[in-house]
Amino acid sequence: MSKITISTLNRMKAAGEKIAVMTSYDASFTQQIEQAGMDVILVGDSLGMVVQGHESTLPVTVDDMVYHTANVMRVSRHAMVIADMPFMSHGTPEQALNTAGRLMKEGGAHMVKIEGGAPQVDTVRHLTARAVPVCGHLGLLPQSIHQLGGYRVQGREEHAGERILNDAVALRDAEAQMLVLECVPSVLAEEITRALDIPVIGIGAGAETDGQVLVLYDMLGITPEGTPSFVHDFLADAGNVPGALAAYVKAVKEGSFPASEHHLA
Ligand code: KIV
Repeated sequence: MSKITISTLNRMKAAGEKIAVMTSYDASFTQQIEQAGMDVILVGDSLGMVVQGHESTLPVTVDDMVYHTANVMRVSRHAMVIADMPFMSHGTPEQALNTAGRLMKEGGAHMVKIEGGAPQVDTVRHLTARAVPVCGHLGLLPQSIHQLGGYRVQGREEHAGERILNDAVALRDAEAQMLVLECVPSVLAEEITRALDIPVIGIGAGAETDGQVLVLYDMLGITPEGTPSFVHDFLADAGNVPGALAAYVKAVKEGSFPASEHHLA
């Protein structure tokens, strides 16, 4: 199997072939995820909650992200790997460049992900002009949880939806090469996916994005807080981890996940 790159993902978008993405934080799960044929692995700062047991992603450090990214990269052979820039590691373009440099040089990531819209555009431009591939992240921003006041759907009101769409276009114009949309209404996710010529990956954003991402522990049904309503427990059906991962890849590719019961209005 050949290595997945951003060119592969762009071709998949153009061909209407869905992109399957899963979070991973260690070597053993990464091996299973690779064997299932996942296109992209996200070393998400969700590790702060599902691995480290924090209440939010805020305590995750750059050292943590470098450590977990390196764990994943040691065994990853096929998937493209994206690493999250954790809270307070990208406050200025210079700080972001330093963080991204560590995630790519020490961790081995192929791309970095940054949460946020308009306030991040200069930072994204600073990185992409210096050969750092960037994935944006809009909608529900877990690093802004105390500002948002809870984990809830974003962009329901017309002005809020318009702001997310404008932010998506601004990130694209700053040369971001991918975008994650988290917990937005499916009609908004569809509009943004159509408006952009870069792959848009959804989580709790309906079925019309170019691909789907889930937090590994959510789709295995082992997240301590319980499974969010937009997630399917693939392990409950399959009975084992390789089967659950293979079922997820198949369901994303054939468009049966997310189903209507996973959509957020
Ligand atoms: O940290 C993470 O796992 C993420 C996904 C929820 C997209 O950002």
